[in-house]
Amino acid sequence: MSYYQRHLFVCLNQRANGEASCADHDAQAAFDHCKSRVKQLGLAGKGGVRVNKAGCLDRCAGGPVAVVYPEAVWYSWVDKSDIDEIVESHLRDGKVVERLVLPDAVGR
Ligand code: FES
Repeated sequence: MSYYQRHLFVCLNQRANGEASCADHDAQAAFDHCKSRVKQLGLAGKGGVRVNKAGCLDRCAGGPVAVVYPEAVWYSWVDKSDIDEIVESHLRDGKVVERLVLPDAVGR
């Protein structure tokens, strides 16, 4: 068994050159909300869920973006209720939130 059951990486990158970036979509607020929700639900830590900041994941056109391992499922979201759904459905219950999955074609 791996140290964490699920590991979520949230891109917080801000580009200075005007190109699309996740920080333009308030990724920090989503990250903060996600961390606190995971903690509230008692999911954080060894054998559970870890939420980490990430730099650019090179899929900026879909920003804000995050990826969950070990399933390698990529997400984008609109608001905090979407984050809640990712936390409760995927991170806690192991069910992918299909409506928020980032299409494979989305890149930089
Ligand atoms: S800035 Fe977030 S994936 Fe590139």
